[in-house]
Amino acid sequence: MSNGRSFYITTPIYYPSDVPHIGHGYTTVAVDALARWHRQAGDDTWMLTGTDEHGQKMLRAAVANGVTPQEWVDRLVSESWFPLLEELNVANDDFIRTTQERHETNVQTFFQALYDRGYIYAGEYEALYCVGCEEFKPEAEIIDGTGPFEGLKVCAIHSKPLELLQEKNYFFKLSEFTEPLLALYRDNPDFIRPEHARNEVISFVKQGLKDLSISRSTFDWGIRVPWDESHVIYVWVDALLNYATAVGYGSDQETFDRRWPGYHVVGKDILRFHAVIWPALLMAAGLEVPRGVYAHGWLLVGGEKMSKSKLTGIAPSEITSVFGSDAYRFYFLSAIAFGQDGSFSWEDLAARYQAELANGFGNLASRTTAMITKYFEGIVPEPGAYEDRDLAIQETVATAASDADAAIDRFRPDEAIDAIWRIVDALNGYITDNEPWALAKDESRRARLGTVLYTAAEGLRALAVLLAPIMPIATQKLWESLAIAGRLQDQPIREAGTWGVLSPGTTINALAPLFPRVEQPV
Ligand code: ME8
Ligand code: MG
Repeated sequence: MSNGRSFYITTPIYYPSDVPHIGHGYTTVAVDALARWHRQAGDDTWMLTGTDEHGQKMLRAAVANGVTPQEWVDRLVSESWFPLLEELNVANDDFIRTTQERHETNVQTFFQALYDRGYIYAGEYEALYCVGCEEFKPEAEIIDGTGPFEGLKVCAIHSKPLELLQEKNYFFKLSEFTEPLLALYRDNPDFIRPEHARNEVISFVKQGLKDLSISRSTFDWGIRVPWDESHVIYVWVDALLNYATAVGYGSDQETFDRRWPGYHVVGKDILRFHAVIWPALLMAAGLEVPRGVYAHGWLLVGGEKMSKSKLTGIAPSEITSVFGSDAYRFYFLSAIAFGQDGSFSWEDLAARYQAELANGFGNLASRTTAMITKYFEGIVPEPGAYEDRDLAIQETVATAASDADAAIDRFRPDEAIDAIWRIVDALNGYITDNEPWALAKDESRRARLGTVLYTAAEGLRALAVLLAPIMPIATQKLWESLAIAGRLQDQPIREAGTWGVLSPGTTINALAPLFPRVEQPV
């Protein structure tokens, strides 16, 4: 199956201090759809997700709930974060937890290597820290508090007061990487995407980087600094390293060489950690930097980032329990330009479900299969001589398939879906124009009827293959109805636009509605 192209892709590892909301689900389904596409193309694909379990935020959540931090994360991970993957039908290859031995040991190996290479030193520090971000905040992200926080300095993202910390810490010589990072962004223009994210990082780095505090000594919920037991490793350094430890850094060189480097998809809130600190840490350790970092936008509520801390989180299950996981995946990946902010609304979701899924794709599938059943006893007809309008459909399918693949290559699932939807729209128009129900009334038009229904069914075959990474459940039903030999997930997606895979003479199976009518919430 494999063509030898390695494709390793990750989601952020989420904080299980609380339950997931649709923002976490958004990143996760985007990465899953990209991974499924590459897997189906035969690339040597690996998709990683996981949880970021150390740090002060986690410690405080546990204390507030009267349990140990390990008990807290164990509970949240098993009751909420694993189930999220089931709910959204995510086919991750691995799930890393930063409290696992395979991670902790190799984080220490990495940390020691940086120390031995002269990139870590001890120093004094006093600065404003945001526990929500787990970050000493740069000047530009500190604002004056309002309301109950009047007179205090608050975090621009969390709107919560910052804490003045004064500690003896270990520091990473991030300042030495200003030039190497700028060279990286210059020589590899796709390292940070999209363009506006790249520009933002470049202007930040151009101001010059300061050394980074990378240990904490006032609490102990973390991985110990190997040469100094009184410090734990800064949670962000611990967390970023998951991408390496999960694929064998420090333990399995062969796997590491096979997978690394990979691509990271993140929300724009954590772009700088991934596009500045992470490549600098890797360079310091003498390892390859990531292939690329893609920052998507935020799901907004009332114009602000949806968040747990502001209690604006919507649980993914509220959507999947009504519309199903396919619709969740389709909606978020098609309705929002990947890289831009977007607002979720129930009205928009319900309208798109009805128009695009039920009336568009679902109806195309049901009327095509129903007409083959009615006019040809369920046997896929032989196409006769193709006319221009049939050839136009073949051309639409071929172009849409290659445009979709190119869009996925650019990390634009929304544009891939737009391209694929040209097939849905073209086929619905084709059926309306060719009126198979009228052709069926005229025995002398039987060959033409066969051509039209073959064209529609073969178009559906291409749609099943192309939409499988986005909507695995509906496309599997369609695939079973078309009764084509072989598993859907083994259909080479980069050849989906090649005409004539469906064999005339195949007996198709009845198709239940792909997108049933839903009882709409409130
Ligand atoms: O930052 N819109 O974890 P986290 C879109 N543990 N995406 C959103 C979102 C929103 N409103 N809210 C969250 C952390 N996300 C660290 C990461 S990685 C080495 C460590 C998604 O639980 C988005 O992907 O706060 C964002 O970057 C991520 O969840 C932050 O999750
Ligand atoms: Mg966050």
